[in-house]
Amino acid sequence: MNPVEVLRAVPFFAGLNQNQLETVHRVSEIQQFAKDTILFREGDRGDALYVVLSGRVKVVKLADDGREFILASFGPGELFGEMALFDPDEKRTATVVTFEPSSLLVISGKLFMAMLMENPAISLSLLRTVTQRLKESSARFANLIFLDTYSRVGNYLVKMAQDGGRRLADGSLVITRPPQQEIADFVGSSRETVSRALKELEHQGLIRMIGKKVILSRLKP
Ligand code: CMP
Repeated sequence: MNPVEVLRAVPFFAGLNQNQLETVHRVSEIQQFAKDTILFREGDRGDALYVVLSGRVKVVKLADDGREFILASFGPGELFGEMALFDPDEKRTATVVTFEPSSLLVISGKLFMAMLMENPAISLSLLRTVTQRLKESSARFANLIFLDTYSRVGNYLVKMAQDGGRRLADGSLVITRPPQQEIADFVGSSRETVSRALKELEHQGLIRMIGKKVILSRLKP
């Protein structure tokens, strides 16, 4: 696909006309990254905005003892790296690592900011994205405080199923379960506790696990 067409397919740029898409194309490049590449670390200086074209990245906070907490993960069409652009010191607020081999559009931050100034539609779109993320962060905060691991793992599976589950003929949703350590890093728990929670959810009849597949039968439309 020609690069301008690639940009047109990114929902965030949907409101741009041909000239504007060509401007974005001029100030950006597509880069490929292997799985587990650290794109940047919390505290690094950064002046680039990223859009995921294919693959997946995770946004993490790392503890001194090496434990990690996943703040968010982003897949095709989603952007990240916008926060440093608004920081006078241009500091990255978290570490971002590829989960999978990924193709990313890397856009010059300065030129992107100039585009925001000229284009209220893109500014509003960015504001909407950031607001949505704030809502999700608040919900996860509340979950961490109010829910036990069992419920947090349940919520995590439900969200995965709602975002990308495949509907089976009987109406239930099926997902491919990420590694247990990844679920643990996302729900703020240990791998062992997540393993126990998955068994308990299965025991309660809320999920069915077949190999790496998890079937959520109570999520029928
Ligand atoms: P930046 O600070 O430039 O680099 C890290 C990026 O991770 C940040 O921009 C956002 O794009 C993203 N990010 C940081 N915190 C969160 C969060 N709580 N929820 C979703 N995304 C985040």
